[in-house]
Amino acid sequence: MRIGLVGVGRIGAFHASTLLSLDAVDTLVISDADQVAAKRVAAELGAEQVADVDTMLASGVDGLVIAAATPAHAPLLRQALAAQVPTFCEKPVARTLDETLELARLEAASAVPVHIGFQRRFDAGYREVRRAIGAGELGFVHTIRANTHDEMPPHASYIPTSGGIFRDCNVHDFDAIRFVTGQEVESAYATGGNKGERFFVDAGDVDSGAALLRLVDGTTCLVSSTRYNGAGHDVRLEAMGSRATLTAGLDDSLAMRSAQDGVTFPPGPVHRTFMDRFLPAYVAELTAFADVVRGERPSPCTVADALQAFRVAEACDRSWREGREGRVVPMSEVPDR
Ligand SMILES: NC(=O)c1ccc[n+]([C@@H]2O[C@H](COP(=O)([O-])OP(=O)(O)OC[C@H]3O[C@@H](n4cnc5c(N)ncnc54)[C@H](O)[C@@H]3O)[C@@H](O)[C@H]2O)c1
Repeated sequence: MRIGLVGVGRIGAFHASTLLSLDAVDTLVISDADQVAAKRVAAELGAEQVADVDTMLASGVDGLVIAAATPAHAPLLRQALAAQVPTFCEKPVARTLDETLELARLEAASAVPVHIGFQRRFDAGYREVRRAIGAGELGFVHTIRANTHDEMPPHASYIPTSGGIFRDCNVHDFDAIRFVTGQEVESAYATGGNKGERFFVDAGDVDSGAALLRLVDGTTCLVSSTRYNGAGHDVRLEAMGSRATLTAGLDDSLAMRSAQDGVTFPPGPVHRTFMDRFLPAYVAELTAFADVVRGERPSPCTVADALQAFRVAEACDRSWREGREGRVVPMSEVPDR
């Protein structure tokens, strides 16, 4: 099949090589607002390069992958739906709740599948936690701890367009919590702080955040994020139940060391970026997207799914912005249509 890819920054260039490694993909055609970057990546990987998405869609692609900066997602997704092209779009669906709601309406009115890129749904550990909770092996789950801790910030110009730490980073945790528990969030409280570079303050963002969520069934979730986890890339989800505790991400490369005498776990080397931590998951999600394009499976994460994670991020953003102490925001306060 012939796949189009828009955006060849950090994740886009990585997706380009993954896509080209798939048996299902015969041709990859790429574009980026930065033509120089698009030309370079196309030459390195042996992909075609076109000036823009109009040319790409006119050239006849079977599927489109959107990995451009977050503000570009909504306009590109609108174009893809209008052209009736099955589309994979990186998280978050859009930069704002209004755009996300509009895209959920467009998706509902269209027969064209849209797959949103929450790769943790394809990680073996997260899938095992979901299976174990569903099978009742943990007993009743009372507490979930989830975190997205990046080793270092992305480039400074990324931050003002990211939507803020809750929409950009913790949105993964919010989706994962829904995925493993099958529960919706009832209320959210969030806070955060800045101890790192000035550009976070200038963008009205925080470099580290934390959220306390209550799920509809009474489960408590403690969620954290930081752009400054010097130990490495640490992404985990711990599900604690009345019978057992199960953790996704607790592997030999966990970016952490024990303070206890004689403990040598984890042996390392530690994960440094989302690319080495989630490589098999990215391959699996793009393989799934190829199946979606062929009509062999429905989208494993629709805009409607991603909207729910975005609403939680929206609630967290409101919570920490509304005063130093934040406030508890009931989900009923955040529109869902
Ligand atoms: N799923 C994940 O684990 C994951 C990881 C990183 C980033 N992301 C998401 O992927 C997206 C890109 O992130 P990144 O880290 O690669 O950012 P980046 O800044 O490194 O790259 C963004 C690219 O998009 C291009 N671009 C911007 N607007 C465009 C437009 N209108 N048309 C075409 N190209 C355009 C830029 O020139 C740049 O090359 C973001 O939405 C981010 O949230 C997801």
